[in-house]
Amino acid sequence: MGLYSTVMDEITFHTGLSPTAFFTIATLMLFVYRTVSSMFVSPQDYNKPPVVSARFGSRFEVDEPVKEPVQVGEITEPELRLYNGSDPSKPLLLSVKGQIYDVSSARNFYGPGGSYAMFAGKECSRALALLSFKPDDFNGNLEGLDESELAILEDWEYKFIEKYPKVGQLVQEQRTQQIEHSQEDISNPNEHQE
Ligand code: HEM
Ligand SMILES: *[C@@H]1O[C@H](CO)[C@@H](O)[C@H](O)[C@H]1NC(C)=O
Repeated sequence: MGLYSTVMDEITFHTGLSPTAFFTIATLMLFVYRTVSSMFVSPQDYNKPPVVSARFGSRFEVDEPVKEPVQVGEITEPELRLYNGSDPSKPLLLSVKGQIYDVSSARNFYGPGGSYAMFAGKECSRALALLSFKPDDFNGNLEGLDESELAILEDWEYKFIEKYPKVGQLVQEQRTQQIEHSQEDISNPNEHQE
């Protein structure tokens, strides 16, 4: 008890803060420090493969085996859904503005249980533009988005271009039959792609 109150008195004397304020500030500073430093990679990790871009998230990737990204070419949304992480032998793919990226290097984000698992296997443009996690927004429909939302989407696109290999392109379902059923396709705005 004596030591405890001495420490508390010292804190108040030296910092002019109440012990509660002192510890709150100290905790916040520690939190900010850890958050900011987690955005950087240590020099040792920097040189380890297979870091695609050392800027974000790579601290999670350093121990994963090197896997060459597999090109999938032109695939449809149902085909893309097979790459949602439920099959561990398949890469994790997602699409932004119809371009498909292999995000396997960030399995901690996009793999099962990851905080962004709902992005995997989906066309994410609308959700990214609106900063939305609603399942209904995981599509390529850009209708009704304003300029700032489109700018947000563009920023995301740059981030994906910079960080992940592009492995394919999203195409409308059954491209050949689409000409015959063009009326149905036009009437479904959710199928719209950039
Ligand atoms: C409370 C709000 C949010 C917080 C605190 C937050 C925080 C974070 C953090 C800490 C990361 C990891 C950064 C890194 O280590 O590389 C991250 C990544 C990410 N966030 Fe958020 N986020 C939030 C909301 C959102 C929203 C609304 C979206 C989009 C709908 C979003 C999409 C993403 C994506 C796609 C990544 C991964 C990017 C990559 O592949 O590197 N976040 N977020
Ligand atoms: C991935 O998709 C399959 C089939 O579409 C589904 O059964 C499974 O729950 C999905 N997994 C994840 C992780 O979303």
